Amino acid sequence: MKAFFYTLLLIASSIVVASAGNFHRDFDITWGDGRGKILNSGRQLTLSLDKTSGSGFQSRNEYLFGKIDMQLKLVPGNSAGTVTAYYLSSQGPTHDEIDFEFLGNVSGQPYTLHTNVFSHGKGGREQQFRLWFDPTTDFHTYSILWNPKRIIFSVDATPIREFKNWESIGIPFPKSQPMKLYSSLWNADDWATQGGRVKADWSKAPFTASYRNFNANACVVAKGKSSCSSNSASASASRTANSAWLRQELDNASQARMKWVQKNFMIYNYCTDAKRFPQGLPKECTAMTS
Ligand SMILES: *[C@@H]1O[C@H](CO)[C@@H](O)[C@H](O)[C@H]1NC(C)=O
Ligand SMILES: *[C@@H]1O[C@H](CO)[C@@H](O)[C@H](O)[C@H]1NC(C)=O
Repeated sequence: MKAFFYTLLLIASSIVVASAGNFHRDFDITWGDGRGKILNSGRQLTLSLDKTSGSGFQSRNEYLFGKIDMQLKLVPGNSAGTVTAYYLSSQGPTHDEIDFEFLGNVSGQPYTLHTNVFSHGKGGREQQFRLWFDPTTDFHTYSILWNPKRIIFSVDATPIREFKNWESIGIPFPKSQPMKLYSSLWNADDWATQGGRVKADWSKAPFTASYRNFNANACVVAKGKSSCSSNSASASASRTANSAWLRQELDNASQARMKWVQKNFMIYNYCTDAKRFPQGLPKECTAMTS
């Protein structure tokens, strides 16, 4: 009987729950001396940047795999010199990291969406994109799907990049170090916009980016144990018991959409930068095309 009860408990705790995020519950504003704010009873968060400082927040939970969505509305107008970073990262010198970074621009010129994947401390896997919409006029959803087989970056549910698990050819894959979710808005005008030629216009400060609708279908690690269960106090309303993301892959239609994005909106790909890798392209790049 007891064994049966524990089995039930195990099943219950492995159900993955989608829950509408509350910024008060899920995040801490970690720096910026009041420049980061949680508004509307936890439904919205804003970060701002002025000449003195930027600001940032991080998740309370640590995740080991998950499908994590957030809606962002980026700094409007002249956002030159600003960088809005939104990423998962573990700690330490051999850390893993999955990055979205939005590099601002002068009014009317496009943002650059920069992506990267670090595994065991090694990054250098940059891919950059233009967006097919103005990311400053509305909220758009930026998602990271991270499961044991692949990492998929998506924008409004359109996949833009996939990093597969290539451990079979000796490439480390992030799969054992729990990561927190971070975001920050900061001044990078020494390099971010048009190679650093365009500086931030501080007369337009403060610069503000907004966040809402955080959603994590994820395995949360606490006290050394991972449980793919609800991290939500108000989960019952939205209990969806959906763990398909743990095995999710791109179907043919999604692959076709990703190809469309990469063909039309990718502006940099480390995998085609032969000049940068005179000894030969990284192994995952050649594996990808074969
Ligand atoms: C800003 O606009 C210029 C001109 O369109 C473009 O070359 C550049 O890639 C854009 N983005 C950044 C981050 O500089
Ligand atoms: C997906 O594409 C592969 C080959 O490109 C094909 O064999 C397969 O039948 C397709 N699957 C579906 C569901 O269309």
